[in-house]
Amino acid sequence: MSDGAPYGTAAAQSAAVAIRARTTAVAPVVGIVLGSGLGGLARRITNAVAIPFGEVPGFPQATVVGHAGQLICGLLGGRPVVALAGRFHIYEGHDAALAGFPVRVMHALGAPVLFVSNAAGGIRRSFRAGDLMLIRDHLNLMFRNPLTGAVETGDERFPDMSAPYDVALGDRIREHATALGIPLQEGVYCGLLGPTYETPAEVRMLAALGADALGMSTVPEVIVARALGMRVAGISCVTNLASGISPHALSHAEVIETTTLVAARFESLVERLIASL
Ligand code: HPA
Repeated sequence: MSDGAPYGTAAAQSAAVAIRARTTAVAPVVGIVLGSGLGGLARRITNAVAIPFGEVPGFPQATVVGHAGQLICGLLGGRPVVALAGRFHIYEGHDAALAGFPVRVMHALGAPVLFVSNAAGGIRRSFRAGDLMLIRDHLNLMFRNPLTGAVETGDERFPDMSAPYDVALGDRIREHATALGIPLQEGVYCGLLGPTYETPAEVRMLAALGADALGMSTVPEVIVARALGMRVAGISCVTNLASGISPHALSHAEVIETTTLVAARFESLVERLIASL
């Protein structure tokens, strides 16, 4: 056991104490991670206390355009939540353990469920830019794991990953999507290191490996959540068709533009999910 790690259990508990001191919020029912361009959901949080990442002990500043870099406590759909607008990516030069650290903090605040979201490139041929995809499983092709090193208090050494995304929560998201008339794809998210987008040959390889969508985040957070026994649900926003499938070159501007178009659908779906937790 080790509690000396910079992004471990003890550090997460210190961060949680500092956050609790700034809010009157009760324990969150869910921790939410908002991906690139999807931070607008934070505006639906009422009684919100927003804390810049730089003021959370253990957090560095977020650096990517489209990421506000705030931890927000408040109510969503009438339920207490903690949300991250922005996240830490390994491609920024961060340790995998830091990419997963906010999940440790949300768990230390009492969240039993993690909801992750991301912008992703679509691989499956039936996908279109603007689709929402329920994440049913993932491929960790980042070749990094946030749990390497000494075992943190509360973690298992060899966490089971046979059910990384909670089936019942996924089914519930699908029911809400149907009720709201929101089309919802589902599939396997592939996490890559980045920061380059993929080559067409890489996308063909990833398709053969079973990936339906791909991106540069989420996997470290889900691994930490599962190590802590949190239930996980997630949605990818397919912001573009992947390299070689898309008729044009990829850009972060396109990614953000597409998220803007689907933000309302995404926000309604997530708010309804949270209200039902
Ligand atoms: N590849 C990797 N990450 C992404 C993509 C993509 O096509 N779109 C959004 N994030």
